[in-house]
Order: sequence, then structure tokens, then C-alpha cells
Amino acid sequence: MLATLIKEGKAKQLFTTEDENVIRVHYMNQATALNGKRKEQIADKGEVNNQIDSLIYNYLQSKGIETHFIKQIDDSDQLVKKMTMIPLEVVIRNYASGSFQRKFDTEYLLPFKTPVQEFFYKSDRLDDPFMNDSQILALSIADESQLKTIREQALKVNDALTELFANAGITLVDFKLEFGFDPDGKLILGDEISPDSCRLVDAKTHESLDKDVFRKHTGDVMDGYRTVLSRLQATR
Ligand code: C5P
Repeated sequence: MLATLIKEGKAKQLFTTEDENVIRVHYMNQATALNGKRKEQIADKGEVNNQIDSLIYNYLQSKGIETHFIKQIDDSDQLVKKMTMIPLEVVIRNYASGSFQRKFDTEYLLPFKTPVQEFFYKSDRLDDPFMNDSQILALSIADESQLKTIREQALKVNDALTELFANAGITLVDFKLEFGFDPDGKLILGDEISPDSCRLVDAKTHESLDKDVFRKHTGDVMDGYRTVLSRLQATR
């Protein structure tokens, strides 16, 4: 059966497979910023992100966290469970940066007493507005028990990833997760986790190793991504 393109996102294409419950994800050599308004082709980015994401998901599963990930099948492709996603971006922050730093005018990388959790409604048209719990419940985006599961799972992922990156000499500043329902209706973690969706800095020098380099035009974004991959591989 020929694979059909289901969806093309900002950095990935999703294809059907012979199993209706399984999707092939192809990581593209593309980076976007400003909600897709700025778009550039970047050699090797797809392969590097596929490898980082696969390594992270294998690690999360080894820690008992249920996810959409099935396996990496080649340099730029992986298989995942077909998911019905909840239109929420779940942001976890350990240190002040990005929109939090701007909103509260804090010092860069101010450490938080406890992790910050924020929700944003996924909508390109509305520029992903911030959403609180009551807004999520009012619009039936998730119910109380689903919201509780999402919060708990996100904190578990934070603990696991903070340790994984710390072992690689990298500080996990903040990151974005997305959750959805697998073909059995179970609420689990889905979507990409890579330097496109995480803020990562060198633990000693605080050099940016993530998409901020692309967003802010401060250098070759692939230098940081390759550093993240090689350091994570060295921890295995
Ligand atoms: O911009 P902000 O500080 O709110 O981003 C917080 C975290 O969420 C960052 O790690 C960023 O890469 C990630 N994020 C994302 N996709 C978005 C918005 C934020 O991956 N649409």
C-alpha cells in the first residue's frame, strides 16, 4: 500500500502506514519561527532532530512514561501511534527565559522554586494564546481528570529530562509538550521533543544549544543541535 501524506507541519510530515493505528513521521530539513512566518531550509536538521527525539523517547519509555513513540526506522523517519491530539501546548519551565522572562521582567535563567506549568491553546490563527485551567474546562478542551493526568505526566517528563540532560552537561531551561489519545483512547504523551521545542543551555557556559539561535540569528543553529545529539549519545 502506498503511503499517503496525512499532514505537513512546520518541521514534519506525517504519512499513513499499512497499519491504520501507526503513522510514519518524517523530519524535514526545515526551521520556522514567528508561527511559521519565517521559514528556512537547514541541512541535516531533520536527521539530527529525529535522532534526538528518538533517543529522548526511548529514555522516557525506559523510565515508565507511556508515549506515542514506537521506533526510529531510518535517519529521518520514525513510527508512532496514531493519536488524536488535545489542542494544548503544555510548557514547563525550570528557569526564567523567553516569554516568561519578558512577561515578568525577570533576570535571565532565574531558577524557580518549583517548576512553572503553563498552557497555551494551539491555534496559528490566534497565535497560541495562554489558557488557564478554567478556560480549558469551560471550552471542554480537557476535563478535570485529563488535566490532572497531563499536569502529573508533564512533571514526570520534566524530572526525567532534567536528569537526562544534566548527565550530558546541559541545563533544561524550559520545554513544550503535547498530549493526546492513542488508538485505545488512552491519554499519553505525543509530538516531538527536540531542540526545536526545548530551551537547552550548556550547564557551565550557558551557551544556547536550541532553536533560540535560529529565532535570534545568533549563529549556526546546527552547531548546538549536533552538540546536544553527541552529548546525549555519550551518556548511553
Ligand atoms: O516562548 P516561550 O518562552 O513561551 O516558550 C517556552 C518553551 O516552549 C520553549 O522551550 C519553546 O521552544 C517551546 N515552544 C514550542 N512551540 C511553541 C511555543 C513554545 O516548542 N509554539
